Amino acid sequence: MSNYHIKHLEEYYQIYRKSIREPENFWEEVAEEHFLWRKKWDKVLSWDFAKPEIKWFEGAKLNITENCIDRHLVTRGEKTAILFEPNNPDEPAQHITYQQLFERVNKMANVLKSQGIKKGDRVCIYVPMIPELAIAILACARIGAIHSVVFAGFSATALLTRINDSDCKMVITSDGSYRGAKTIDLKGIVDEALESCPGIEKVLVVKRTGGNITMKEGRDMWLQPLLDEASKQCPAEIMDAEDPLFILYTSGSTGQPKGMVHTTAGYMVYTAYSFKNAFQYRENDVYWCTADIGWITGHSYIIYGPLANGATTVLFEGVPSYPDFGRFWEIIDKHKVNQFYTAPTAIRALAKQGSEMVEKFDLSSIKVLGSVGEPINEEAWHWYNDNVGKKKSPIIDTWWQTETGAIMITPIPFVTPTKPTYATLPFIGVQPAIVNEAGEELKGNQVEGRLCIKFPWPSMARTIWRNHKRYKETYFSTYKNMYFTGDGALRDEVGYYRITGRVDDVIIVSGHNLGTAPIEDAINEHPAVAESAIVGFPHDIKGTALYAFVTLKDAGESRIHENLRKEINQLITERIGPIAKLDKIQFTAGLPKTRSGKIMRRILRKIAEKDTSNLGDISTLLNPECVKEIMDEAL
Ligand code: WTA
Repeated sequence: MSNYHIKHLEEYYQIYRKSIREPENFWEEVAEEHFLWRKKWDKVLSWDFAKPEIKWFEGAKLNITENCIDRHLVTRGEKTAILFEPNNPDEPAQHITYQQLFERVNKMANVLKSQGIKKGDRVCIYVPMIPELAIAILACARIGAIHSVVFAGFSATALLTRINDSDCKMVITSDGSYRGAKTIDLKGIVDEALESCPGIEKVLVVKRTGGNITMKEGRDMWLQPLLDEASKQCPAEIMDAEDPLFILYTSGSTGQPKGMVHTTAGYMVYTAYSFKNAFQYRENDVYWCTADIGWITGHSYIIYGPLANGATTVLFEGVPSYPDFGRFWEIIDKHKVNQFYTAPTAIRALAKQGSEMVEKFDLSSIKVLGSVGEPINEEAWHWYNDNVGKKKSPIIDTWWQTETGAIMITPIPFVTPTKPTYATLPFIGVQPAIVNEAGEELKGNQVEGRLCIKFPWPSMARTIWRNHKRYKETYFSTYKNMYFTGDGALRDEVGYYRITGRVDDVIIVSGHNLGTAPIEDAINEHPAVAESAIVGFPHDIKGTALYAFVTLKDAGESRIHENLRKEINQLITERIGPIAKLDKIQFTAGLPKTRSGKIMRRILRKIAEKDTSNLGDISTLLNPECVKEIMDEAL
């Protein structure tokens, strides 16, 4: 295990330098030592960012579930793999051992096969945070089916767009889901979506809430009776290193969401290695990531990374505020959690409740705290450090993306001295570059610009599902021979990175990536709306919230604006989901546009941020007169 756990800063630099100078040797050693291969690779890496084409461990054969489950059975069969904490604190927690996980995944895999799923088929998983979600994911991986998990808070329209984009054959869902005091009719949402999904042949339904649902004859089946019949043995499909493992959708600045494709071997090696080092996970630690598995954080750091290390990973069904704002701390105390990974938006919401809620519980088990999803502001960082970590547990501010598959910039706890609001140093093997708008790399320290990555890393997404052109245009065309992240960043005097936020039209609300285009499309569907533009503005809890500028077809629209606002938000809830609701809607006579007709979001952003001292030159606009009116009426 020589190069698996990094112990001190000097060692970090040594390993980092090696990973940069000899990336192939470095990753080959990690891959050789720590994983189970059916056949080793012929070539560690081949790449060309111009095409772009990236291949890691070409020629290797493996199954990721043998690495996440089977190989642990001898030494960790009775160890808890998944520790399920239900939404309702009175419902007992479930400890699913590696042996039980093995059996449940194999049974599920056999059910999928018996329902016609084969290697390469796409299976949509729309299941809340219950063990069956993890089991369904692993069962797909077991038989080589490509899972496409859709966050169970998305609406029917968002679900159907994703199902159709990747031509899924099957949906796995549940009758309903629990979220705090609410029960959600998940199956009803699926039924609505499937009216427009001709490719779906089968729907498997997990029983969770016992709600009243309809089952469509010939299409819908309860999962449990099928599982009861299925065998506990399902041989793992032998996959090529570069076979797709999953598709996961993320928003872009324009157009439909992008189905990022992650492949098998490189994703496994890098998520496992980064999990172990970024969290300094030790055998018998209890690790908890509060993200939903519907996002990349859950894929990589609730399921694949922890399980590949034989870890105990907590899966929490509920929300931080139910039954009260002490729930997170209660769970940490109850299960003696050692590594806790959450998002700044949750930290801000909990901090708002004061420290009394935290003090009621014993958090002494905590060794490492993590943050992900958006920049963590200084106040939230200190609150987290003082009240949760009691100033003794390092906070790792981990920067990464759906596209990167795993953590890219992060302190290593007990190794890298932390600095509030800084993600600090690149993880092993990661070669960041800061470039200016002309695409020139800014070398040296104390520079600020756009964040790119100039060399491949094993867990990077390989393409956008059936749209390689868009993959190339979005990530590899802005700057030559570099992957462009869409984020701004600075490098300080000691070489630490600080992420300054998105430089494109993606807005991060409560740590969720929201592209402006689908939200604007939803607003524009309202019959009274002519046009709209969305920008972000600073918000106490959400980090960034959405501000819409909307022009109406009939400026003298008689309905009162309050009703219109409700109707617009209702449309957004239906088309995307409640996470995309607007906090502010300003009705305006016009939107500032360039002479070529492009909406000048930069100006709107400044107005929404209440930073209008320097709007820049607006005289070149097509309609400069509308700017003053918008400013005067800003909310
Ligand atoms: C933002 C989540 C600052 C960033 C894993 C990125 C962050 C986008 C951080 C990806 C962080 C994520 N500090 N910003 N520690 N982590 N981001 O695809 O803008 O949901 O590009 O992946 O979130 O969001 P995604």
